[in-house]
This record gives sequence, C-alpha cells and structure tokens, in this order.
Amino acid sequence: MIVAIDGPAASGKGTLARRLARHFGFAYLDTGSLYRAVGFAVLQAGGDPADEATAEVAARSLDPALLDDGRLRTDDVAQAASKVAAIPAVRAALLDFQRRFAAAPPDGAKGAVLDGRDIGTVVCPDADRKMFVTASIDVRAKRRFKELREKGLDVIESAVRQDMVNRDARDAGRSVAPLAPAEDALVFDTSDLDAEQVFALAVRYVTDGRLG
Ligand code: CDP
Ligand code: CDP
Repeated sequence: MIVAIDGPAASGKGTLARRLARHFGFAYLDTGSLYRAVGFAVLQAGGDPADEATAEVAARSLDPALLDDGRLRTDDVAQAASKVAAIPAVRAALLDFQRRFAAAPPDGAKGAVLDGRDIGTVVCPDADRKMFVTASIDVRAKRRFKELREKGLDVIESAVRQDMVNRDARDAGRSVAPLAPAEDALVFDTSDLDAEQVFALAVRYVTDGRLG
C-alpha cells in the first residue's frame, strides 16, 4: 500500500504522514528533507542554491545521514530547498530513491507513506491513497512560527509568513512537478481542524478508500 500526501508548507502533512505510518506500521519518507539536505549542502559549501550545476552535484552526492539533521529545519534552508527543487536535474537525481522507497519500503514494511509536493502527481502517480493537505496562509504561518519558536529559534511572525508566501509561489509556479493536488487526491482543508481530527479522517480514508 502506497500512501501519498502532498500540500503546501506547514499544512500539517508531515505530522499526519508520521502518525499514519506509525498507526498502520508503514515506513515513512519525508521527501522535503531530501530537498532541504541538498539546499543545506549547497549553503554549507558557500554555493548558490539556484545554480543548476552546483545543486545537481549536491543532489547526486547526497549524504543520507543529513536527512535527520536538525539544522535542516530553518527557514533559510527551506528557501534554499525550494530553489534547488525548481531545477529539473535535481528532481531527476532524487526520483529513483523515492520510488524505490515506495516500491520496497525498508524493514519489510507492508506499506509506505511519502509526503511532499509531487508524490501523487509525479513520484507515485499510481499510489493507492492520495491526500492533499492544505490550510489558509494565516493558519499555516502561525503554525510554523509557533513551531520554530518552540524550537528556540528567534524568528518573527511576519518574516516567517513572507518566506512561506515566497516559497509557496515558487513551488506552485515552477515548470517541473509544481505543487498541485493530483486529480484523484482527497483534499483536506485543515484550517479549522486540529491534528487529531485530520488523523481520524485520514485513517478512515486509508482503511476504506473513501470517507463515508
Ligand atoms: O509537514 P508540514 O510542513 O506540512 O507541517 P507539519 O510540520 O506537519 O505541521 C506544522 C505544525 O502544525 C505542527 O506543529 C503541527 O503540530 C501543527 N498542526 C498540524 O500538524 N495539523 C493540524 N491540523 C493543526 C496543527
Ligand atoms: O515542511 P515544509 O512543508 O515547510 O517543507 P518541506 O516539505 O520540508 O519542503 C521543503 C521544500 O522542498 C519545499 O518548499 C519544496 O520546494 C521542496 N519539495 C519539493 O519540491 N518536492 C517534494 N516532494 C518535497 C519538497
């Protein structure tokens, strides 16, 4: 069983994907961390994330140990991630890894949950379940602001919001694998739902293939 979850920044897709994976005993892949790791590697080397050749080399030599690194969670890295993510050669370099994870999840898991921007549209167009998780920009900016503050980062809400607006525009406007719901995705607007309510709906959908 392959579960695809896409959506814009701080919509709650990662939280949902992680909980579903735990609930069903499936493997989980946060595909955003791949793009973040590439962006981070470019920044660390003093490079420009928008430079195609530099970003492609970083994508091809990605260090898997980086994927859980807490330094990937900053807004600067998120911006760099969305710049490298607009480069077709970078996306191509990361595609195989994601497809292999979905087709043969680690540790013999019976299923995989992948979250990102293009899982239902490009990475796993034949996924058994597809969800598109979204929320208003105000709600999402507040969620991310709170999250970063709780991690002890000294951020201001208006800057977090503006960064998110820029990143969403770049992600939805790029020519390759733009952020968009797959035609057959179930759309969850979580603006007025807490994580628990979204989880309950998603469990029903994954179990039955429909909501009601
Ligand atoms: O992965 P994505 O960037 O879409 O969002 P996330 O990191 O899973 O969630 C951002 C924050 O929103 C987290 O602090 C969640 O606890 C919170 N949240 C949520 O995930 N779902 C809701 N329905 C409401 C809040
Ligand atoms: O957690 P949040 O939604 O803020 O970001 P993320 O999922 O970690 O993704 C960071 C960036 O990676 C996004 O803004 C996209 O530009 C890119 N990304 C992508 O292009 N395709 C994916 N499947 C996942 C992430």
